[in-house]
Amino acid sequence: MTRVLVLQGPNLNMLGTREPEIYGRQTLDEIHAMIAAHAAVLGLTVAFFQSNHEGALIDRIQTRDYDASVVNGAGLTHTSVALRDALLAVDRPFWEVHLSDPWKRDAFRQVNFLHDIATESIVGQGARGYLLALDAIAARFGAGPGDHA
Ligand code: DQA
Repeated sequence: MTRVLVLQGPNLNMLGTREPEIYGRQTLDEIHAMIAAHAAVLGLTVAFFQSNHEGALIDRIQTRDYDASVVNGAGLTHTSVALRDALLAVDRPFWEVHLSDPWKRDAFRQVNFLHDIATESIVGQGARGYLLALDAIAARFGAGPGDHA
């Protein structure tokens, strides 16, 4: 089965109460339950990792125990060369997801270190964006390769 890592960056653990007018009222656990249910329908294996720490996210990326990832880098999207370098280093396709549309927000969010290396970016669709990313991964991998070197 195709293995998908869902990687969630800083402050996404606060979803539900964090600026709900921008990010909605679903908690991260609720979103992850939705993702897990959709992954099961698509026949994908999914693992989740959230951290507020750049290095912890990079360590998780480097494990390479997945075929593709769905990455919401949150604020690090706009600041982190190191996160970009890690995603390039592991040679796994990733789908960039943002609940909001950063392109329509503050000027500092127009800087994006991940966009040009993502297979696809899905923005402004709320939690549905994660499901669309899974659909794209299922279409790309089909029943799935399982183990990479
Ligand atoms: C976000 C958008 C980022 O600009 C912001 O820093 C976040 C959340 C989103 O999902 O809309 O933390 O990644």
